[in-house]
Amino acid sequence: MSELTLRPRETPQLPAVDLSTTLAGVRFPNPVFTASGCAAAGQELDQFFDVTAIGGVVTKSIMLAARSGRATPRMAETPSGMLNSIGLQGPGIEAFLDKDLSWLAGRGARAVVSIAGGSVEDYAKLAMKLRGRPGLSMVEVNISCPNVEDRGQVFACDPAAAAAVVSAVRRNTDKGVPVFAKLSPDVTDIALIARSVVDAGADGLSVINTLLGMAIDTTTMRPVLGGVTGGLSGPAIRPIAVRCVWQCHAALPDVPILGMGGIRTGLDALEFLLAGASAVSVGTTVFGDPTAPVRVLHELAHALAERGIDRLSDIVGLAHQPAQKYVPQDPDPVGDDLPEES
Ligand SMILES: Cc1cc2nc3c(=O)[nH]c(=O)nc-3n(C[C@H](O)[C@H](O)[C@H](O)COP(=O)(O)O)c2cc1C
Repeated sequence: MSELTLRPRETPQLPAVDLSTTLAGVRFPNPVFTASGCAAAGQELDQFFDVTAIGGVVTKSIMLAARSGRATPRMAETPSGMLNSIGLQGPGIEAFLDKDLSWLAGRGARAVVSIAGGSVEDYAKLAMKLRGRPGLSMVEVNISCPNVEDRGQVFACDPAAAAAVVSAVRRNTDKGVPVFAKLSPDVTDIALIARSVVDAGADGLSVINTLLGMAIDTTTMRPVLGGVTGGLSGPAIRPIAVRCVWQCHAALPDVPILGMGGIRTGLDALEFLLAGASAVSVGTTVFGDPTAPVRVLHELAHALAERGIDRLSDIVGLAHQPAQKYVPQDPDPVGDDLPEES
């Protein structure tokens, strides 16, 4: 399958495939979303494609107060990936609600608001602020943050701390709005964390956040990033992300998954769906190709049509089923022009 090249704001025809997907009771017209932190709140991307054409816009994780982020440099290229240590720079929840969420709602986009905090109480307050907001389709809880009340231990790496955050967010979020917990791959057993957050009330899982990485400049002989370590993303992490989605789906087959990590093409997205994701987020690829979410959507639709699949929901987790025995087709069903066996 060849990759599509789209002109700015071009919306090509999609083949007749039912691309709709339902995440914890909320129906989305198609399964391709942006990834948190890679598309701000969608306004910049809307110059390149109609943001209402994709499944949803996942916003950059927002905290209670404005933050300036970590020291520069904050980005470093690596083979097939990128390291970032942005440090959750952002305007704070009030400015976000006034400016960004209201823009998304006015535009008619489906907004998935990502929240981040340093304590369980921060997350609870953020969830309360989102109550009753028009345009809000889902809440994604970024738990890859240090817990200031526990020596900076990352919530996502501790099943009890992760559960406490998710339970507080679920309690303070409107009933019809799903809460997705975003998991870190930097754990020994991701299914254990997945079970813990689902038991605490998560309606779904976002899988995966970046992996902790680091690069050292061999000229200066010092760390490249101002923040020393950073999150690794991009194609380099895709096999890890697919494995994590697979493990979460195997452990909790009824829990919807928003899969991500290095998706660059429609076939990459298909791989995540087959592993058990019901939708996907496109992140790092957007920095090189701002039309990537809509291009991936079109490539995915064509890939499904080429495989004779009419409904996307039919193939979610399909790779977990035993392969059908391959029976080679008889190239000459009549059988009269094959040489006799000797
Ligand atoms: C520059 C950058 C900023 C990010 N910021 C956030 C963030 O604010 N919240 C979050 O949950 N994930 C954040 N992520 C992680 C992405 O949402 C995504 O989980 C990860 O990058 C894997 O997907 P990708 O390989 O397609 O980028 C960020 C990633 C990048 C590259």
